[in-house]
Amino acid sequence: MSAEPLPVPAFPAGFVWGAATAAFQVEGSTTADGREPSVWDAFAARPGAVAGGDTGEPAADHYRRSGEDVELMRSLGLGAYRFSLSWPRIRPGGRPNERGIGFYDRLVDRLLAAGIQPWATLYHWDLPQALEDLGGWTSRDTAFRFAEYAETIVPRLGDRVAGWSTLNEPWCAAMLGYAKGIHAPGRTSPEAAVAATHHLLLGHGLAMDVLRQHAPNAPSGVTLNLYPVTAFSDSAADADAARRVDGQQNRLFLDPVLRGGYPDDVAADLAPFGFDAVVRDGDTAVIAAPVDWLGVNYYRGYHVAGTPRPGSTPAGAEWIGADEVHFLPDPAAPRTDSGWEVQPAGLTESLLQVHRDYRPIPLYITENGASYPDVLRDGAVADADRVTFLDAHLRAAHAALAHGVDLRGYFYWSLLDNFEWAEGYAKRFGLVHVDYATQRRTPKQSAHWYSGVISRNALS
Ligand code: NOJ
Repeated sequence: MSAEPLPVPAFPAGFVWGAATAAFQVEGSTTADGREPSVWDAFAARPGAVAGGDTGEPAADHYRRSGEDVELMRSLGLGAYRFSLSWPRIRPGGRPNERGIGFYDRLVDRLLAAGIQPWATLYHWDLPQALEDLGGWTSRDTAFRFAEYAETIVPRLGDRVAGWSTLNEPWCAAMLGYAKGIHAPGRTSPEAAVAATHHLLLGHGLAMDVLRQHAPNAPSGVTLNLYPVTAFSDSAADADAARRVDGQQNRLFLDPVLRGGYPDDVAADLAPFGFDAVVRDGDTAVIAAPVDWLGVNYYRGYHVAGTPRPGSTPAGAEWIGADEVHFLPDPAAPRTDSGWEVQPAGLTESLLQVHRDYRPIPLYITENGASYPDVLRDGAVADADRVTFLDAHLRAAHAALAHGVDLRGYFYWSLLDNFEWAEGYAKRFGLVHVDYATQRRTPKQSAHWYSGVISRNALS
């Protein structure tokens, strides 16, 4: 049988090729230049909260090495760098801090000088602890404090930033932080998580207004973590489990941003947890402020059932009020070092969900990546499994383009090995290996491979 050679998947001209990080995960220098503690500093200090007792120090020492890191990005040919701005550096104690602001000001200039587009996220989970002490995201006031913080930094970086994102993965911030308790601030109240969800989204809407005023020419949006959800069977129980999970994971965030209101079924699921009480008149209009693009973070999908099945595990506190939801593993799927199933087709599906069920809107894959137990040997890291992962997911992204999805760019997570939240430094997602003892950077095989894709604007 003679096989037709597959056409080389080429990407559209101007496709943005980048890599991403987040402030708390890479910066270190947690007490430098007037930075105040965030919820993650406090959470990591709790015995047992983070694997290995790891903290935000030293991370990848990016605060002191950002010049070197920009050079590294340039040498790899990256077209864009997605990073987050640290609220506790920029507005400690509720007041603007020039020293903290200066770091990002210089970073943006350095990136521009290196021909790399700066993509900034206002909130990647490092809420000032002082605000958590006043209720954190369960308090409506935090949304307004967030807008105030945006007012401080957006005018300073404004249109020098190529793309602004208000929030990163509000689902994680709300659900993992306030219901499941495995992320900062480590609370375990479903009511708190429901309030946090709404207040994060309200903060997003308020920040969009700040972005329109102070960065009128920069495309602005929000970054969501979407998971395609498949029911184990078409039984009513399994279908309802899938509806519930897709509802809470995806539609609870997509609908208010892209459709102007919360989905009725999800609002009903969350009503016993006080959802109606936190949503005030006019809020949904604020949250529905038009966005220029949507960021999709994709890692994996879920197969769910409404009753226990052989091999299934109960969802537990992963979703609110989802006591009857069970996850089904796919024994055939390879897994990353985080234990996550590798499911590239789910990326195509998530992009299509937005494109078909909502509207054709410019989409960016703002995160996609994998942890593997990388080993530095003779000055090199042979991470063939990450290359395979990347290749498969870029093919899946390309398939979405072929379906007409307006996909504009891809950011690998992450540029550098870094602090993987509750997993600490043990899980390595970087294209670039970081030796935490010396802070020496070594581009992995995957970095060189990705560099080739970028220079060709195509897979091979
Ligand atoms: C999503 C988060 O935005 C990022 O901070 C995290 O490290 C990656 N996923 C991997 O878990």
